Amino acid sequence: MKSLIDQNVSQGTCNGSAIGLSTANSGRPMVSEESDCFFREYTSPDAILKYTTATAGVGISYLLDHDYKTVYLEAIKRLPQQVGQHGIRMLEFGCGGGMNLLHLVSVLSRDGFSVASAIGTDFSPVLIQAANKEAESYLTSQQRSRVQFCVAKNQTLLEELSARLGQEFSKLENSFHFIIGVNTIRYCHRAGKQLDCARDVFRLLAPGGVCVVIDMNDRFPAFRSALKNKLRGKKSQEEECYLPSLDEYTAPFQQAGFEVLRSEHFCWIPHSAGRFLTTLLHAMSPVLNMVARSRAMRSLVVAKKPL
Ligand SMILES: C[S@@+](CC[C@H](N)C(=O)[O-])C[C@H]1O[C@@H](n2cnc3c(N)ncnc32)[C@H](O)[C@@H]1O
Repeated sequence: MKSLIDQNVSQGTCNGSAIGLSTANSGRPMVSEESDCFFREYTSPDAILKYTTATAGVGISYLLDHDYKTVYLEAIKRLPQQVGQHGIRMLEFGCGGGMNLLHLVSVLSRDGFSVASAIGTDFSPVLIQAANKEAESYLTSQQRSRVQFCVAKNQTLLEELSARLGQEFSKLENSFHFIIGVNTIRYCHRAGKQLDCARDVFRLLAPGGVCVVIDMNDRFPAFRSALKNKLRGKKSQEEECYLPSLDEYTAPFQQAGFEVLRSEHFCWIPHSAGRFLTTLLHAMSPVLNMVARSRAMRSLVVAKKPL
């Protein structure tokens, strides 16, 4: 279990005072992203190992082919029918090394969906570079020609995408059908910027477009005990360990104008799990879902922009 905690809560290891945390927003930390230690963590060479396919671990590969894939495909089925004919335009924010997006592009192509374009964004230039390299290795040249990765922050997605792609706001607004964010929106919550992110996602999606957000569940016991340990060690670290509740993950999407299709807990397999733990937790998942679903590892929000 230690590697699980390490991988998923490692973002809470830097010292709050060094990064200018304040709690102006209802007790929640406000973080200046440029100076923040998460940025440093996600621009380190280590980040590439954690967030690219070959070295990320068995757990995440399993999830991309099972739990996450099921969620994505169910969400894509909710898109208006005509999207299928012209091809899906996708975006992943906070994409890291692009594992989700690249896998999804392959899966959709394999399953006969047409992907018109797929864009991944992240605030880490190092990870965006790694994602571009991954695209070279994992996609066919035809798929690659439709995939692009660029640096942009989740909370200023529209503005930065517009600048990076050299496209007017008006061209980008209402242009995507499917947007995902995996294990990244919690950073917006920590900075009090979750509504900015949800609003930009809303603006970027076409009417009928769907957004999927997956992130850590604050009720998962290991995340809670890691938090307690940190509190024992140093009180100021509480802020960096802050995890939103399911209602908090959902609220900005409701406020931005989305219809929420799903808001629930799911998934018992850590990204960092090895083969044994993945097999064990896969076998135990039906029972765990029955007896303790609200304690599962991830929170899931699926939201649709009204037609
Ligand atoms: C835990 S990793 C997840 C990466 C990827 N989504 C995955 O599932 O493999 C969190 C990612 O969010 C990115 N991130 C954190 N805060 C961000 C922000 N404010 N804007 C854009 N990206 C951010 C990090 O650089 C990192 O790639």
